[in-house]
Amino acid sequence: MVLKRWLVKWPKILVALLAQALALMVLALGVMLASQWIAPPYAYWPLVLVQGVLAAVLSHWLGLPSWWRWIQLLIPLGLYGALSAGVNPWWGLALFVLIGLVFSNAGHERVPLYLTNSVTRQALKALVAEQVALHCSEHDSAQNVRFIDLGCGLGGNVVFMAQVPNVQVSHGVETAPIPYLLSKMHTTLRGGETFATDLWKVSLADYNMVYAFLSPEPMVKLWQKVSQELPSGAVFVSNSFAVPDVEPTEVWILSDARQTQLFIYKI
Ligand SMILES: C[S@@+](CC[C@H](N)C(=O)[O-])C[C@H]1O[C@@H](n2cnc3c(N)ncnc32)[C@H](O)[C@@H]1O
Repeated sequence: MVLKRWLVKWPKILVALLAQALALMVLALGVMLASQWIAPPYAYWPLVLVQGVLAAVLSHWLGLPSWWRWIQLLIPLGLYGALSAGVNPWWGLALFVLIGLVFSNAGHERVPLYLTNSVTRQALKALVAEQVALHCSEHDSAQNVRFIDLGCGLGGNVVFMAQVPNVQVSHGVETAPIPYLLSKMHTTLRGGETFATDLWKVSLADYNMVYAFLSPEPMVKLWQKVSQELPSGAVFVSNSFAVPDVEPTEVWILSDARQTQLFIYKI
């Protein structure tokens, strides 16, 4: 139990690696004991399968989320399958590096890459119209929306918002290398701007519409940042993840297949 509590602070990938290492030790012990009754050598496939099953069980025991069990089961099988088929191990490394460059924020930030759909983008457009209508009588400058997507992925929202009437500025920040490069190209060609800036380091004082589609993990900290830095009258929109213990001003439930919820906080 102490071990599990201690491991909670570890990056999931290290816990997964630990589970594979422990599984290998248990397997080695099992093979040593088995050799008393059944003479070696043993076929590799059953051993690899046992390694995967043990790693999956240990992952569950060490508190990894359920989808890790499948990864833990499939990794030894995939590696052995690829080696048996004569696949050059450098391909494995290349694939690992590629996945790392796309999902580099999944480890420490606990935010992987998934994308906003078109129904949600239309809702953002409607929100712009609502904001403009609400504020144009109060402050002239508020007629123009200054939008930022915190963790902008491939830049789709930034490009889309750059083309929405009354959006004066459409920016995105992204730190995962491959999404950043794709977003940079996308926005350079089609509008808006992408910055290779950590979302925690960007000042929000110049924006009046902030959009985030992250994960439950950063929402408390993000709310602190948003509520401290956004000017009065601005709006913070979180796709799918509510800020714990803060009542949203509005919740929009969209008509897409996943019934996306937009949590809207007016500052
Ligand atoms: C779920 S995706 C959303 C992508 C895009 N906003 C969309 O809605 O289509 C979250 C993105 O946030 C990025 N991200 C996570 N933490 C970040 C950070 N600290 N600074 C910048 N980007 C970050 C991830 O790399 C990922 O691309």
